Amino acid sequence: SQEASGQGKAASGPAPRRSSPGSGDLQMAFPLPPGGVVEVGAHWIHGPSQGNPVFQLAAEYGLLGEKELSKENQLVETGGHVGLPSVCCTSSGARVSLELVAEMASLFYGLIDQTREFLHATETPVPSVGEYLKKEISQQVTGWTENEETRKLKLAILNTFFHVECCLSGTHSMDLVALAPFGEYTVLPGLDCTFSGGYQELTNCIMASLPKDVMIFNMPVKTIHWNGSFREGTFPGEAFPVLVECEDGSRLPAHHVIVTVPLGFLKEQQNTFFDPPLPAEKAEAIRKIGFGTNNKIFLEFEEPFWEPDCQLIQVVWEDTSPLQDTAPSMQDAWFKKLIGFLVLPPFGSVHVLCGFIAGLESEFMETLSDEEVLLSLTQVLRRVTGNPQLPAPKSVLRSCWHSAPFTRGSYSYVAVGSTGDDIDQLAQPLPVDDSSTQLQILFAGEATHRTFYSTTHGALLSGWREADRLIGLWDLQSQQPRPRL
Ligand SMILES: Cc1cc2nc3c(=O)[nH]c(=O)nc-3n(C[C@H](O)[C@H](O)[C@H](O)COP(=O)(O)OP(=O)(O)OC[C@H]3O[C@@H](n4cnc5c(N)ncnc54)[C@H](O)[C@@H]3O)c2cc1C
Ligand SMILES: *[C@@H]1O[C@H](CO)[C@@H](O)[C@H](O)[C@H]1NC(C)=O
Repeated sequence: SQEASGQGKAASGPAPRRSSPGSGDLQMAFPLPPGGVVEVGAHWIHGPSQGNPVFQLAAEYGLLGEKELSKENQLVETGGHVGLPSVCCTSSGARVSLELVAEMASLFYGLIDQTREFLHATETPVPSVGEYLKKEISQQVTGWTENEETRKLKLAILNTFFHVECCLSGTHSMDLVALAPFGEYTVLPGLDCTFSGGYQELTNCIMASLPKDVMIFNMPVKTIHWNGSFREGTFPGEAFPVLVECEDGSRLPAHHVIVTVPLGFLKEQQNTFFDPPLPAEKAEAIRKIGFGTNNKIFLEFEEPFWEPDCQLIQVVWEDTSPLQDTAPSMQDAWFKKLIGFLVLPPFGSVHVLCGFIAGLESEFMETLSDEEVLLSLTQVLRRVTGNPQLPAPKSVLRSCWHSAPFTRGSYSYVAVGSTGDDIDQLAQPLPVDDSSTQLQILFAGEATHRTFYSTTHGALLSGWREADRLIGLWDLQSQQPRPRL
């Protein structure tokens, strides 16, 4: 795949990162000491164990430490759930007891585990994961015997867990995530781990194994012409079924193209990106599969205001409840969608928090300036710490995945009205009809993996799947007189 937006993997210091035209992101230098990396995109290997090819590759390349490689680490079953916070603060500056948070986490994640059981059911009680969770929670609430204040606090904590789940699914609301296929997403065992130098360590190793200069960067493709017979001067006498036309006018003839652009890009551009247009079933699958936004907001502090062993600061907005439908209120309340802050391991004297925010509020955040975001989050932190004098962060850096023209969102989910079959439909190579013509356009990328969508290992496996498909066809060619090539 080609990194057209330049928004790829990680921002690493100390050099200010170049930002490509139109990416609208990473404009601001974020000075980190050498070796310090923050990831605006993927950060963890989810489920680092034998069944995870990203883990396998990282291990082969020697990029993981002893702890990450240990059997013990590989055997941890998290169920894909986020660990408990180190502290939980409310919007009025109170600390929530971690027992109460743990109680709500176990209720919430117990219900999430139940949702997976509808995979093979013939019917679901409600269409979405969100509605199912709310239905179950409203039943539970009737049995709560605490005082009014505690009951309200419990709902507010649950509201934060809904927002965490929106980040994981990359969606505005869990009401948009289909219940029946939710269990098809597969969580691998292993305690999520990271690359000390960022995911780029892995992509650098992969690239080093390729011949020099085969990768072209910053060359956006405008249109993929297919079902044709294209003759280009560089290959006299040969006709190609596919012609890749780039925005700068370059034309690359090809026998086959593996398309790995994000689903968000396809949703917006499919009509002009393919000529002739995609068959109706594929166009429909692109419309139906969900693709939303999850963003990160990094804040750099002069001094940490958190305890040295603090890993995750959860934020709970008082008087919120998952059972109350509120219209997203943007200007004054977008930041209430923020789930809290991850504490990044300190590098040298640099102290960084990473906030996560999903959905329409996240997309609204992208329209604000860095200064506005910094100001709003400073106010949030002053509220939740109860310290009106808390020094403002030194700098802010955030992802803007929805505005990024070559991404248009974060990752895919199975939306209400779609199923895993739509993922397979998206992955189907073209043309589908005529077995005498060769395969022309193949599809890979996270959104084409039925059980590992939204992850780097899903993306990697999908690329290998399509590479193997082509290798298989070329093998056939050498053995048979009339190959489907
Ligand atoms: C905030 C965030 C956090 C994440 N965290 C994790 C995590 O911790 N662990 C994990 O496993 N996954 C994580 N993911 C998901 C992971 O990043 C994706 O699943 C994975 O990168 C998808 O790979 P891909 O190759 O399908 O698509 P991408 O990585 O999006 O690559 C597609 C490429 O196509 C290029 N492109 C688009 N249009 C064109 C065009 N017209 N011409 C040429 N090139 C084009 C894009 O610029 C891009 O480089 C995260 C994602 C986000 C957004
Ligand atoms: C591909 O070309 C053939 C022959 O010209 C035509 O019959 C067919 O409809 C084309 N397919 C698409 C998807 O345009």
